[in-house]
Amino acid sequence: QIKACLFDLDGVIVDTAKYHYIAWKELASNLGFEFTEEDNERLKGVSRMTSLNILLEIGGITLSDEEKHRLAEKKNENYRTFILKMQPDEILDGAKEFLQELKAKGIKIALGSASKNAMTILERLELTELFEAIIDGTKVTEAKPNPEVFLKGAEALNVAPSECVVFEDAEAGVEAALAGNMKCVGIGSPDVLGKANLVIDGLHQMTYEKLMELN
Ligand code: G6P
Ligand code: MG
Repeated sequence: QIKACLFDLDGVIVDTAKYHYIAWKELASNLGFEFTEEDNERLKGVSRMTSLNILLEIGGITLSDEEKHRLAEKKNENYRTFILKMQPDEILDGAKEFLQELKAKGIKIALGSASKNAMTILERLELTELFEAIIDGTKVTEAKPNPEVFLKGAEALNVAPSECVVFEDAEAGVEAALAGNMKCVGIGSPDVLGKANLVIDGLHQMTYEKLMELN
């Protein structure tokens, strides 16, 4: 019996990838190489430090841990100038409506995001109150595809993993949900998210009835 829904943030509720892209591209440019939109795809769902490691690998650059932390911090400051200006109209189509529908039906709602900026983003979008539990990058040690972020979400909601449905746009996130013994709805392309129980284009296609069909 489905009792709870756990949501990834970036790419499911809001498109932050475009801001991450601008900030990573600028960092690459400062380091003297090009960072493309295709490269940016590899960073979806991936933690900040892992993202930096991938970027440095693309640029063929090796740096000390100290230098890497400095650059990750610099990128994040740049990224935050964009998210601090976000508005509620940037919520992806249908996301808020679906969250409200779940709430009305008594389904519990949690966030499960790798981002350390999740709280800031939810505040800017005026969505914080809709979440009963928020598990973000400040609360986990293991990155997706490890299920930690979703298991902590289920625990905080006081439901069993088998009673949860996860909404994810990244392959690693789908894997994390399934590894946690949860059902998963993929948001995006079936080519990438084929392991999910259902794949849709966005939350505008989701309803309580479709959720119950996953039972
Ligand atoms: C999400 C995004 C990733 C991002 C990660 C960490 O998973 O999809 O692209 O790298 O969060 O975000 P942060 O805001 O902590 O840098
Ligand atoms: Mg995501």
